[in-house]
Amino acid sequence: MPEQLGNTLSGKGAVITGAGRGIGRAIALGYARAGASVCCAARTESEIEETVQEIRGEGGTAVAFRADVSEWADVQALFEFAETELGGIDIVVLNAGVNVDHGLVESGDPAAWEDTIRTNLLGAYYCARAAIPALKKRGGGKIITIGSGMGHRGFAESSAYCCSKAGLWMLTRVLAQELRQHNISVNELIPGPVQTDMDAVLHIEGEWFKSPEDVVPMALFLATQHHVGPTAQSYSLMRRDT
Ligand SMILES: NC(=O)c1ccc[n+]([C@@H]2O[C@H](COP(=O)([O-])OP(=O)(O)OC[C@H]3O[C@@H](n4cnc5c(N)ncnc54)[C@H](OP(=O)(O)O)[C@@H]3O)[C@@H](O)[C@H]2O)c1
Repeated sequence: MPEQLGNTLSGKGAVITGAGRGIGRAIALGYARAGASVCCAARTESEIEETVQEIRGEGGTAVAFRADVSEWADVQALFEFAETELGGIDIVVLNAGVNVDHGLVESGDPAAWEDTIRTNLLGAYYCARAAIPALKKRGGGKIITIGSGMGHRGFAESSAYCCSKAGLWMLTRVLAQELRQHNISVNELIPGPVQTDMDAVLHIEGEWFKSPEDVVPMALFLATQHHVGPTAQSYSLMRRDT
């Protein structure tokens, strides 16, 4: 691997949802470069295969699994596959997400609201639910939820996205309480504006506009904390208060 990160994740199995492009893809590559075996999940097979091929090309270990996180059967199959293929799961990054334009609550499309909640919140709940037994078998682990400042502050004409991410932040804290005694920590990572397919990047005075790779150091930090390290916390890469 060209960019070994001290093998800090050597021997670890990591599942990253939404690893076909954007932030999830960068985290999958970053974890593999740090020595983890990674399972890349998303709906578009060609994109997750591309991520896997890039990791293997660098000498890393990766597998792909096509799954829609809003479908419980897909999620169950994903975690069964990942546990078998990786030999165990230590880290789960709940990154898959959509930001479908909804508009004003008064006039927005209810279907867009449903789709957003189904992927960003229900999908994260399904993944956590399916992952927990595997993490417990390892005696501990990390769940990292990819949140948003919009889930803390609210933003007009983005009710679906804001509410999905607010729910995800609450899920993070509830899971942290439920899993603390099992040495499983659950923390939120807020990337702030990142140039990806999802984000046209709003130009906000003084904000840091990132590439997906800029999110990787924080994702590595959260994956490598002590087993009685931080949990129920939110870590933001933004320059404004979230
Ligand atoms: N970009 C930003 O500025 C920003 C800021 C704050 C938070 N975030 C959060 O960061 C995460 C990643 O966003 P991104 O900017 O990297 O977006 P992106 O480039 O659009 O990537 C999203 C990934 O999620 C996958 N995905 C979407 N719906 C899915 C589903 N139902 N099942 C499985 N996979 C699904 C996509 O693959 P398929 O479509 O092939 O399934 C893709 O791999 C999201 O949770 C987002 O809310 C992004």
